[in-house]
Amino acid sequence: IQYLKDTVKPEEGLIPSYIFSHPKVYELEMEKIFLKDWLFIAHKSEIPNKGDFVTRELGGQSVIVTHGADGEIRVLLNVCTHRGMKLCRMDNGNQKNFTCPYHGFNFKNTGELIGIPFQKVVYGDTMDKSTMGLKEIRHDVYADLIFATLDDDAVSLDEFLGDIKWYLDLAFNRAEMEVVGLPQKWNVDGTWKLGSDNTISDSYHTLVSHGSIAKLGLVPTGDYSKYGYQIYTGNGHGLNLGMPNPDGFAFPENLINEYKERLHEDQYDILKQMKNMIVCVSPNIMILISSMELKGQQVSHTSLRIWKPTGPDSMEISAWVLVEKDAPEEWKRLSEQANTLTFGSSGIFEQDDTENFTDITQNSKSPYHLQENIVYNYTMGMHQEPVENFVGPGIVYKDKFNEANSRAFFRNWLDQITAE
Ligand code: FES
Ligand code: FE
Repeated sequence: IQYLKDTVKPEEGLIPSYIFSHPKVYELEMEKIFLKDWLFIAHKSEIPNKGDFVTRELGGQSVIVTHGADGEIRVLLNVCTHRGMKLCRMDNGNQKNFTCPYHGFNFKNTGELIGIPFQKVVYGDTMDKSTMGLKEIRHDVYADLIFATLDDDAVSLDEFLGDIKWYLDLAFNRAEMEVVGLPQKWNVDGTWKLGSDNTISDSYHTLVSHGSIAKLGLVPTGDYSKYGYQIYTGNGHGLNLGMPNPDGFAFPENLINEYKERLHEDQYDILKQMKNMIVCVSPNIMILISSMELKGQQVSHTSLRIWKPTGPDSMEISAWVLVEKDAPEEWKRLSEQANTLTFGSSGIFEQDDTENFTDITQNSKSPYHLQENIVYNYTMGMHQEPVENFVGPGIVYKDKFNEANSRAFFRNWLDQITAE
């Protein structure tokens, strides 16, 4: 811990290479971040009916997110209370009860244990089923996003999210949103942190990493650092906002009244001009709204992904695509297509980005990096001052090409993993 404090210097823009793959750093992250923070596990529209469920992971632990027979949403530990078998092995479905595949204990979708095979014979009167329900995990919902935490002492979700909610509203509260299909999942040999780091501050890479796409005209080619803002809202959360959109309004026109009703006028004003918005909710969520021309019309797509750590040097990406529930069917189809073409698992942006994450992570594994304390440069934008007159909350820079948000992200990360 002392070595981390001595070598990671976010305010000076100095981030050492070893943190991107060192097993001890990973252990600390698991214990101090992923067992403690609020983590995204599902969108409410994935389990609209009683009995619907999805299985997800939280701090390396499988959980079942259920819409119970009583109408309540619960997050239940996916561990049979008899002897620890993983109770449900499906990704999603609709079930009144879950029966353990090992010895057949039977649980309601509210978590209650209701059946034990041959109970009288094997336990006599000694078994009190009411003490053997599935463990319930703390959860809360914002903008239909279901979050859970394994830490009963964590601050409220509201406090954890803080001012980033103002921007989350643009993505998830502007209209009733629904998830399209199932989340896509794929594995990358890179650390989760590089995903969050790229999300929170890196507009600068677009011109080069995504150079071929710039040539196709899907992203600007010149210096577009002034077309938008970089914003940090605290607790490791921040965003890059691309505006104005030279190509016009990129959302379904039939919903304009709904947008106006649900959003504050300053928020609507941003939505009206938005080209893209990429938000990092710490530790590992990326939310993206991006727009492009498809079949002759401007269309935006909205997605959420998590960079889920699967080891010191690897992650699994899960990506959800969302659309306005009341958008025209043709518009929904185009929006989904736009996402698949760009940020789906085989999308043109996606492959460029994960190449970078993989190579940085794999390089950092050499013991030479630790021995020599190889350090990377995160000083971009230190000569800039934040602007005061922006309508939304946060520390706001007019220049998007800036590493201020990464410096803030790594400060928050360092404080978390070195906390007593
Ligand atoms: Fe589940 Fe035995 S482990 S019934
Ligand atoms: Fe990128």
